[in-house]
Amino acid sequence: MKFFIDTANIDQIKEAQDLGILDGVTTNPSLMAKEGITGEENIKNHYIKICEIVDGDVSAEVISTDFEGIVKEGEALAKLHDQIVVKVPMIKEGIKAIKYFSEKGIRTNCTLVFSVGQALLAAKAGATYVSPFIGRLDDISTDGLNLIEEIRLVYDNYMFETQILAASIRHTMHIIDCAKIGADVMTGPLSSIEGLLKHPLTDSGLEKFLADYNKNN
Ligand code: E4P
Repeated sequence: MKFFIDTANIDQIKEAQDLGILDGVTTNPSLMAKEGITGEENIKNHYIKICEIVDGDVSAEVISTDFEGIVKEGEALAKLHDQIVVKVPMIKEGIKAIKYFSEKGIRTNCTLVFSVGQALLAAKAGATYVSPFIGRLDDISTDGLNLIEEIRLVYDNYMFETQILAASIRHTMHIIDCAKIGADVMTGPLSSIEGLLKHPLTDSGLEKFLADYNKNN
């Protein structure tokens, strides 16, 4: 399972990279705005900065919603760095663009996916990643994890190569459940990743080991 961090915050990206388990980064226009990154040039420079910190894929989202605009923006983003994956919304024009990009060898992440039908279309168009947003489904009393299960079943039925990138992860249990289901990738906040570290028996066990060592040395 690949681990992506879902942020545009440089400190958090560095912290996750330092852990040694980071496989990539996802961003979106809201996450960029949260870090105060505005203006085309600043946004592009920020993507390059992120690519220089991590070893893996960095999703950079287009803001156009028409085919020509998505293609123009996506091609410019892909040229920024070979780690860039063009993030395209799940809309009709987006599907056309994903098909175009896949024929050109430009990698894509189909975002804002909320149904198995949408995920099927993304795979047919040749998306590298599909991003079902599980937290946002949970927010509206719909089972986000069930969507991951359904997409896994459909992709396995036809051996689609599109990777399931479980997005909108809100907490550590989401990561564990996605791993059980077989999501290829998860993207979440640093706190959700760090939650995997925690167990009170680890803390108390280590405390005792160190106390016993210190008593005798
Ligand atoms: C995915 O790539 C998105 O950036 C993200 O996971 C959205 O998550 P949210 O629902 O927490 O905004």
